[in-house]
Amino acid sequence: MKSASALIVGTGSALPSKVITNQDLEKIVDTSDEWITQRTGIKERRIVAPGESNSGLAVKASRLALERAQIAPEELDLIIVATLTPDYLMPSVAVLVQKELGAHKAGAFDLSATCSGFIYALTIADKFIRTDPQLKILVIGSEVLSNKVNWQDRTTCVLFGDGAGAVVVTGSKEPNRGFISGHLYADGNLWHLLTLKGCGSLYPPCGDHLPPEEYYIRMQGREVFKNAVRAMEAVALEALQTNGLTPEDVDLLVPHQANMRIIEHLRERLALPLEKVYVNLQKYGNTSAASIPIALDEAVTTGKLRPGDLVLMIAFGGGFTWASALIRW
Ligand code: ACO
Repeated sequence: MKSASALIVGTGSALPSKVITNQDLEKIVDTSDEWITQRTGIKERRIVAPGESNSGLAVKASRLALERAQIAPEELDLIIVATLTPDYLMPSVAVLVQKELGAHKAGAFDLSATCSGFIYALTIADKFIRTDPQLKILVIGSEVLSNKVNWQDRTTCVLFGDGAGAVVVTGSKEPNRGFISGHLYADGNLWHLLTLKGCGSLYPPCGDHLPPEEYYIRMQGREVFKNAVRAMEAVALEALQTNGLTPEDVDLLVPHQANMRIIEHLRERLALPLEKVYVNLQKYGNTSAASIPIALDEAVTTGKLRPGDLVLMIAFGGGFTWASALIRW
């Protein structure tokens, strides 16, 4: 008998209230609204104010997801947070969320797979559910990238934003709904193209181990772009072919929100009409592991995603990592 797969039964998201527009950035670095819009599609991004944190955003998003799922925090069995910008190296964001929600019986851990982290985490949650469909798992993507960005480096500071998205999953009671497949990939040979070296154990903070710019995100944008386009297309086609589906079967593509040109390439390769691709990067920029769950939540709350829809999620990020998840909503 086929085991029950994970079904998303609630979504939530949280964005900081402080907005940084492209015009604001024109006053900080040598850039223009025109350049940022044409090269990326981003118009503004949200960043945390003093007192706001990664775990704080994650908790807000989670409360919404739990409320919509009609599941109490005490019922949760596991909390997984995909993030590359935890509040602390120890403890994890996941245990801070567990404490704040009062999810006293839940295990909790963080997962680091950069922008693909949410799909990695969701795929792991599905594996748990297939062993026990009663499990209730909170999967979060949450980032505060704004203080990992060098605000003097125009090649990166225009791209990123902060935010969190969360979903609650449990075993699907309907055989035709739920998680269909997850494909996870990585290529560590290309790690040097997108880095945040400082403050790990090799180069601890408060030292002069590294040039100051290495304590921030550094990226060889053009190379990342080329690899992202190639990998996202390949993993999208694989997800469909493995399941005997074609792009026409897709109701909504929810890609990682890094660059409109990358999304547009993917849309063209899959020959999808505009209305079948969810895009919100103009409002939030690249929020790394948070971008897909934020988009999912918006798609649900705006009625673009309905029960029974076939949803294809595709991500790519530093590492490199890339991944697909296919779900019958
Ligand atoms: N404003 C104005 N000019 C700029 C800016 C800016 N903000 N940034 C760069 N430029 C200049 C460059 O200096 C360069 O000038 P030059 O030709 O005189 O040398 C010119 O614009 C072109 O630069 P490119 O880097 O070639 O620009 P490109 O068209 O590749 O766009 C971008 C850059 C937007 C970063 C793009 O490469 C990109 O989106 N890359 C992929 C990002 C991505 O997908 N990341 C996902 C993973 S993120 C994660 O894992 C955390």
